[in-house]
Amino acid sequence: MLHNDKLEEWDRENFFHPSTHLAEFARGNVPQRVITGGSGCHIEDRDGNRLLDAFAGLYCVNVGYGRSEIADAIAEQAKELAYYHSYVGHGTEASITLAKMVLDRAPDHMSKVYFGQSGSDANETNIKLVWYYNNILGRPEKKKIISRWRGYHGSGLMTGSLTGLELFHKKFDLPLSQVVHTEAPYYYRRDDLSQSEEEFVAHCVAELEALIEREGADTIAAFIGEPVLGTGGIVPPPNGYWPAIQAVLDRHDILLIADEVVTGFGRLGTMFGSEHYGMRPDLITIAKGLTSAYAPLSGSIVSEKMWAVLEQGTDENGPIGHGWTYSAHPIGAAAGVANLELIDKLGLVENAGSVGAYLNAEMASALSEHANVGDVRGEGMICAVEFVSDKKTRSFFDASDKIGPQIAAKLLEQNNVIARAMPQGDILGFAPPFCLTKSEADQIVAATHQAVKSVLG
Ligand SMILES: Cc1ncc(COP(=O)(O)O)c(C=O)c1O
Repeated sequence: MLHNDKLEEWDRENFFHPSTHLAEFARGNVPQRVITGGSGCHIEDRDGNRLLDAFAGLYCVNVGYGRSEIADAIAEQAKELAYYHSYVGHGTEASITLAKMVLDRAPDHMSKVYFGQSGSDANETNIKLVWYYNNILGRPEKKKIISRWRGYHGSGLMTGSLTGLELFHKKFDLPLSQVVHTEAPYYYRRDDLSQSEEEFVAHCVAELEALIEREGADTIAAFIGEPVLGTGGIVPPPNGYWPAIQAVLDRHDILLIADEVVTGFGRLGTMFGSEHYGMRPDLITIAKGLTSAYAPLSGSIVSEKMWAVLEQGTDENGPIGHGWTYSAHPIGAAAGVANLELIDKLGLVENAGSVGAYLNAEMASALSEHANVGDVRGEGMICAVEFVSDKKTRSFFDASDKIGPQIAAKLLEQNNVIARAMPQGDILGFAPPFCLTKSEADQIVAATHQAVKSVLG
């Protein structure tokens, strides 16, 4: 490939990078990296570095890089028919087949899937569907959405509001007034350290009940949550959390949206996080793992209960006023079909479960004893290490010390391993492709151990 000497300059001059310190980037203080290729769990940059991507891009390249089965499916679809819309009953073989494949894998009570492009727009769709549903049922006041602090649901206007991280609200006039936040099920960071997991779940339930009481159940439409908190710190729920939350929602006739953008299609070692934790969602958000990010595609899976009301709504009001030019884009759909076939063929959900459990166990045994490692946690092929300045008091490092980013930088510099410094707190996140081998897991753990020692001693 031609080496364009001007690329770095063009990058600084023209490219608005998401989630980036814009001024530092412009000043040349944010490292630039041009990625040129990938295979399995590794990517390559144009300086010839080969990096073990222990975060699968943004926890999305679930089948790993360089899968020619998916690339070929995309190419064939593009040659045969690059685009047609899906409005008013139109479809393609790929989009119709993918809808069936998604429903075949989803919990039994789900009925239809609407396809979008990103996790953010799928959640935007979900909130519109929830509002429509309650309007059709003659409950125009039942509209607020409960989300959790540290939840991540996207960065649009509504979805950025649902996201419970300060960085995504500050200076954007968010959250919007229809969104209210409740306690994160973050057992390690509970206020009362004497609480058992069971007592902490009871506390989360009490907080939710109090919020519903304050706001009035007749004003609350839905509760949205990731089965495992992702961007907010990679936090699996305490034992019994979801069934307890589900019972409260059922009692108050509040819908549940399971945001499975990260957990959908195998990351926890099960096809969906909902089945893993006993959730019974009315809507499921899917994106990332639907195509392993080989093409942009997302979806909202709608339950039978909601679907019946949506049909009623169109009988009363005409066609549903929702859709995008690129809904169910054929290229994304072709990538999705090939991706889901590959996941089955290679047994990648099982591998995510077994090698993921190995990665988590090895990480815990290598790092738990370190004086500044407060918690090592995870589930399936997702894992986090949380750093503290004092293990006993669980006190945070000064944010300006940037301990998490420093360790991630060392990991990359010393061992060519990519982990993600999560945006809030000193938390190092790992979410490798599902095809990770045990020896690659060993490499990640050894490199992390070394990076932690380099930064914290
Ligand atoms: C749980 C969850 N929901 C929604 C989103 C938003 O997806 P996107 O970035 O594709 O808009 C993300 C992205 O990381 C996510 O992790």
